[in-house]
Amino acid sequence: MNEKFVIAIDGPAASGKSTTAKQLAIKLKYIYIDTGAMYRASGLCTLLQNISLDDKIALKEMLDKISIRIEYAEEGNRIYLNTEDVSERIREADITKLSSQIAVIEIVRNKMVELQRKMGEDGGVIMDGRDIGTVVFPNADFKFFMIADVRTRALRRWNEAKDNGEVIPLEDIKEELIWRDKNDTTREISPLKQADDAIPIDTSKMTIEEQVEMIYSIIKRGLNA
Ligand code: CDP
Ligand code: CDP
Repeated sequence: MNEKFVIAIDGPAASGKSTTAKQLAIKLKYIYIDTGAMYRASGLCTLLQNISLDDKIALKEMLDKISIRIEYAEEGNRIYLNTEDVSERIREADITKLSSQIAVIEIVRNKMVELQRKMGEDGGVIMDGRDIGTVVFPNADFKFFMIADVRTRALRRWNEAKDNGEVIPLEDIKEELIWRDKNDTTREISPLKQADDAIPIDTSKMTIEEQVEMIYSIIKRGLNA
């Protein structure tokens, strides 16, 4: 596949976006861009610089200077905030919540969307997030909207935590997902929602291999049509 398409994958947390996007990027030799990591890095930046989310002047100054870089690495992309590698720190629970809180702010979204459009302007990218098919690249060549029931998603995150040696009650994870789903779908600007022309994929009962294969075959079919 030599064409340089833009592939958008949106959906709620733990629906399988990043796992799928990473594997597809390898298959297609495309660049994978995790836009959630960018909201996470912006949230972390406010913590490091002691900026309140209500202080729009300080926030604007921070955004004018912010540098967020995604660097390819075989074992998983690394995320740099200014010059610091924050790949692990941004996955911690306080930043997960903060990322959803900062993501409602218009000046933050405008900045992230600007950076994302620049990253994807030459095509050959798979971008995952919440508003890629609706706002960032409304003309994306392929749009997918992944979903899964909340219990399945909570179990997936519980398993991930267990693999990292953490024991978190399943109910706490479920509550956090429900809170974030609500915050992300009800915000005024660019809420999480399926684009009219996106293909929905329910991964609740799928293996990772099945979901990657399903999307890959849709892309191949689309190219041959
Ligand atoms: O990117 P997103 O938050 O949508 O989800 P993910 O990080 O790709 O997937 C969340 C977790 O579920 C990962 O640990 C995946 O390995 C796992 N997963 C799964 O167990 N079965 C699937 N069919 C899809 C994902
Ligand atoms: O990995 P997980 O699915 O748990 O979350 P994420 O994709 O890293 O996104 C973290 C938060 O950033 C989400 O809950 C959204 O509030 C926000 N986000 C967004 O608003 N728009 C995007 N394109 C990506 C993420």
